[in-house]
Amino acid sequence: MKTRHLWLEAAVVFFAITSANCLRGVSLEVVPEVVQRGQEAILRCHYDLENAPLYSLKWYRGRHEFYRFSPSEDPPTKTFNISGIYVDPDNSNKSQVTLRKVDFGLSGTFSCEVTADAPTFSTASVSKNLTVVSLPGGRPVIISERERYDPGDTLRANCSLPSSKPPVHLSFTLNNMPVEATARQQRTRDEDGAQWGEISLSLQPFHYANGQLNLRCTAQIPGIYSTMSELQLGAGMREPVPERVTSENGSDLHTMTFVTILCLGMLHLLLR
Ligand SMILES: *[C@@H]1O[C@H](CO)[C@@H](O)[C@H](O)[C@H]1NC(C)=O
Ligand SMILES: *[C@@H]1O[C@H](CO)[C@@H](O)[C@H](O)[C@H]1NC(C)=O
Ligand SMILES: *[C@@H]1O[C@H](CO)[C@@H](O)[C@H](O)[C@H]1NC(C)=O
Ligand SMILES: *[C@@H]1O[C@H](CO)[C@@H](O)[C@H](O)[C@H]1NC(C)=O
Ligand SMILES: *[C@@H]1O[C@H](CO)[C@@H](O)[C@H](O)[C@H]1NC(C)=O
Repeated sequence: MKTRHLWLEAAVVFFAITSANCLRGVSLEVVPEVVQRGQEAILRCHYDLENAPLYSLKWYRGRHEFYRFSPSEDPPTKTFNISGIYVDPDNSNKSQVTLRKVDFGLSGTFSCEVTADAPTFSTASVSKNLTVVSLPGGRPVIISERERYDPGDTLRANCSLPSSKPPVHLSFTLNNMPVEATARQQRTRDEDGAQWGEISLSLQPFHYANGQLNLRCTAQIPGIYSTMSELQLGAGMREPVPERVTSENGSDLHTMTFVTILCLGMLHLLLR
């Protein structure tokens, strides 16, 4: 009696496992998950039917179906007219769909729904988000009021970056120490809501370790984008220091001459 009961249980468990098994490992890959506006995004639906035939693969943006692949139909692919979605038919098939010319409106949740053929018709669905952005082309531009500062001076500088959506967060560091911006401006540049950003810095009086000031401005969209620019500023000392060895004419000639003399001197010592 007891054994029979166990057999029954085992059969139920076995059936549950096998029926669940015929559709497994369903996952959605969005390449890239963050895409520049106007570019293309590829959505790949991975699934393992364990030799069962595919009945259909349906693609959704939110709750709207926009593409379907069903091998038993003729033609096997069907594209639904959803505004803003441009499916590239040549690069879409039973495992992926390619979206061309993506725009901001497409940011959101995409899903693929896999259905196995008879007899199970088991269905599984997975979702992932796509984010359409417009990232600024260049790097932040730092403008300092002066090229060098003396003790007690007020350091004034701005950092700005062209339009982006979502807007970037700008921040300053001075010799690797974070410094608070004294003003922030965000301006909407176009009808899509892309924003131009600028921060200002005013430090008075500021401290520095030695004759070098490294002002860095970092632009970030958390998890998506990060870029920075640096500006080397001279800081007042009693003796003027050559700021750049690489610059052309003028005072750097002294440095060059000095180095040359030093080298010749060492060569002389070595040859003796
Ligand atoms: C898709 O729908 C838009 C309006 O929503 C319409 O203007 C367009 O002609 C339709 N395209 C096709 C191929 O049906
Ligand atoms: C689907 O199309 C892409 C691009 O054309 C191709 O790389 C991929 O191998 C195709 N997959 C299948 C299962 O046909
Ligand atoms: C996906 O986007 C929706 C809104 O569009 C948001 O509510 C959800 O948290 C996002 N999911 C992930 C995993 O980012
Ligand atoms: C920084 O920006 C503000 C406001 O746009 C402007 O008044 C100021 O002159 C700028 N400072 C520098 C150093 O460019
Ligand atoms: C260096 O010298 C050249 C020609 O002698 C001149 O054209 C150039 O402007 C000078 N550059 C600087 C930074 O003084």
